[in-house]
Amino acid sequence: MKDPIRMAITGGAGQIAYSLLFRLANGEVFGPDQPVILQILEIPEAMEALKGVVMELKDSAQPLLYDIIATDDANVAMKDANWAILVGGRPRGPGMERGDLIAANGQIFVTQGKAINDHAAADVRIVVVANPCNSNCLVAKANAPDIPADRWFAMTRLDENRAKSQLADRAGVLVSGVTNVGVWGNHSATQYPDFEHARIQGKPATDVINDRQWLENDFITTVQKRGAEIIQARGKSSAASAANAALDTIRSLINPTPEGDWFSAAVPTEGNPYGIEENLIYSFPLRTDGKGSYKIVEGIELSDYAREKTRITERELLEEREAIEDLI
Ligand code: NAD
Ligand code: LMR
Repeated sequence: MKDPIRMAITGGAGQIAYSLLFRLANGEVFGPDQPVILQILEIPEAMEALKGVVMELKDSAQPLLYDIIATDDANVAMKDANWAILVGGRPRGPGMERGDLIAANGQIFVTQGKAINDHAAADVRIVVVANPCNSNCLVAKANAPDIPADRWFAMTRLDENRAKSQLADRAGVLVSGVTNVGVWGNHSATQYPDFEHARIQGKPATDVINDRQWLENDFITTVQKRGAEIIQARGKSSAASAANAALDTIRSLINPTPEGDWFSAAVPTEGNPYGIEENLIYSFPLRTDGKGSYKIVEGIELSDYAREKTRITERELLEEREAIEDLI
């Protein structure tokens, strides 16, 4: 038997975890012969609810689920973790922007960053889902100075998936025919989902959808505001699609990126080839050979339109950084 992979998941009694945990244990991400140990963190008030989730995980009788550790101690949850998926935190409600959660959620990432620094496995990789995920990731990273920079990710894959789905619908093709959709910047209403380099069945999306007006307006706005639209409709923020995007993020990081394609995640800006200010967590198109690290895709020619969009979202991240100055 392979050594189990230790997955630390925070926010284990919440909505996203309720999809995520079950799918992490069923072999769809790491393969049918890879056991996993779930190390699930919650706050003390939610431990009773987490108990119920643990019962259900056990009742799923998943052969690859080697062990479950449920705890309210971040140091226990992060012990020897190979992955830390940081989902725990307050979601926004109607009328809020994700950045409004900085005060509520920022402090959580100080504690969890330190716990990762002191207890996680040497190969740990961290994916921050809880909002505002870019800035929360910056806080955790700043509090984990021993963890290399290329291990930190904030999740913009849900935005990429939303963008692909919008383009596929408009072009009348399956979503699998849409590639090269890069999401730039913040997981927020300023993000730039780049349609100028997207491809549909191998052709430029701008040739297939010959409607610049729609691409610049409806398309971008729908992707930027999709989270709010879901909150409005459901009364709660996206959960199953968010869990799905977290699994896609892990899959994209552990498998070689298909020839010519890329995927999106927000990563540290140090040394980035697009002149985005350092010490931010900013989403770029990435590629990996699946062996542990990744590269920001170089040489994407940004039009003046696109460059302006990438700067608007950079400016928002700089403002968020000011608000967390005392945490980083
Ligand atoms: P939820 O309220 O259903 O669950 C969050 C859970 O986190 C709760 O059970 C809560 O007790 C727990 N929690 C709070 N503080 C914690 C801490 N310090 N340690 C461990 N657990 C803690 O929320 P949800 O719908 O699961 O969403 C979770 C987060 O993910 C929110 O911040 C939401 O905005 C964010 N989100 C991000 C994306 C994305 O694309 N990046 C998508 C959807 C949701
Ligand atoms: C989303 O994009 O659905 C999440 O970030 C939740 C939110 O607050 O929009």
